[in-house]
Amino acid sequence: MSNTAEIKVDGKCYELPLVEGSEKEKAIDIGKFRAQSGIITLDYGFKNTGSTQSAITFLDGEKGILRYRGYSIEQLAEHSSFLEVAYLLIFGELPSKEEFESFKDEITHHTLIHEDFHTILEGFPSAAHPMGVLSSLVTAMTAFYPKSMDPNRSWDEVRLSIIRILAKLPTLAAFSYKNKIGHPVMYPNNKLDYCSNFLHMMFGLPSQDFEANPVVTDALDKLLILHADHEQNCSASTVRIVGSSQASLYASISAGINALWGPLHGGANQAVIEMLENIKADGGNVEKWMDKAKDKDDPFRLMGFGHRVYKNFDPRARIIKKAADDVLAALGVNDPVLDIAKGLEEVALRDDYFVERKLYPNVDFYSGIIYRALGIPTEMFTVMFAMGRLPGWIAQWREMRENKEPIGRPRQVYVGKTERDYVPMGNR
Ligand code: ACO
Repeated sequence: MSNTAEIKVDGKCYELPLVEGSEKEKAIDIGKFRAQSGIITLDYGFKNTGSTQSAITFLDGEKGILRYRGYSIEQLAEHSSFLEVAYLLIFGELPSKEEFESFKDEITHHTLIHEDFHTILEGFPSAAHPMGVLSSLVTAMTAFYPKSMDPNRSWDEVRLSIIRILAKLPTLAAFSYKNKIGHPVMYPNNKLDYCSNFLHMMFGLPSQDFEANPVVTDALDKLLILHADHEQNCSASTVRIVGSSQASLYASISAGINALWGPLHGGANQAVIEMLENIKADGGNVEKWMDKAKDKDDPFRLMGFGHRVYKNFDPRARIIKKAADDVLAALGVNDPVLDIAKGLEEVALRDDYFVERKLYPNVDFYSGIIYRALGIPTEMFTVMFAMGRLPGWIAQWREMRENKEPIGRPRQVYVGKTERDYVPMGNR
């Protein structure tokens, strides 16, 4: 097979190298095309543009395959833990027992945050969205750890920044929630594992011991694994592009949190529950809302359905649907909003509009359901997603920096006014 591709413009042929990935994916390397021809490529939303060659996550949207560092998401969700997956993504291999114990120990002993964070937290109005608070607090970490901003620091220092953010993100997230509801913060408990500790900081009270239900902890751990990376999506690309300017890890992660916030990305899990609540308040007529979703004059979309890359099924949704059923059964949850979710899922899966466009429930449809059943407030849903995605962002940032990738700088096709003379204000 040829290892070049040809592009013909105005009768002139340009030969460009073909790149092949380890899963036989092919790409035309257009890096030098503009220098040769003066022409750029145009691809709104980068729907068909690779921004890098990455060894972290492989996904095949047609076949519904998702693998981290070669391991299938099904096996990892079944047998691994979130911290082990975090290690795998960031360091490239599964840890030995000793490596894992020392990694876990390091994370556990960095969960505490500087007391001055409270002053920053108190400055936010109680109505502040926790995603905005979280991204601000992550940026604020540069003030507490100024060495993290040095692009030339040693690997040991980079590693410490990585440990710190992994350890402290759940603390920052739980503290911002406690601050919002006016409750005293709960300090991390080093005897607890990652997820139990987070639930303790979220739901514990100084006046009352809190013990997380193991079904809940397991479901949460699984959800974090499923969210841990998803190759070059909107937030990962944001992290890489911000980091490509040599901005610090914390600044890059903070940008990733903001990118994740929108309802077309991580914010979809919050949007799903808000949509279900609206349907319930409107009388619970699922068919009526399906019609709205199909009406091209109506901006309403069925939140939690469809995916940019998965066009047959979302493998994470399959795993999490089962976990959602287990959690609802174990907790004996009886919630009319969740009944509407089930109704909507059934109707959409056999509706021609959705079937033809390959619109299936995505991971966010079920993650919203689980978070609600766990008693996690709606506004915190995307924060949970951010906690899960953190190892992926770190791995993407690290790969981009270690490969010494150039600063991200797309081009454009200018369609504005051509040159014209300035007219003084009185003469316009
Ligand atoms: N409800 C109704 N119609 C939809 C939906 C939906 N949720 N999603 C896509 N469509 C329709 C579009 O109107 C379009 O129809 P047309 O061909 O008649 O014009 C067709 O399906 C293709 O839609 P696109 O927007 O081109 O698909 P794209 O791949 O660009 O978008 C996206 C994917 C953004 C996820 C979209 O499906 C959507 O908005 N879904 C709802 C939001 C959501 O759940 N986001 C979470 C994504 S998962 C994640 O980030 C972890």
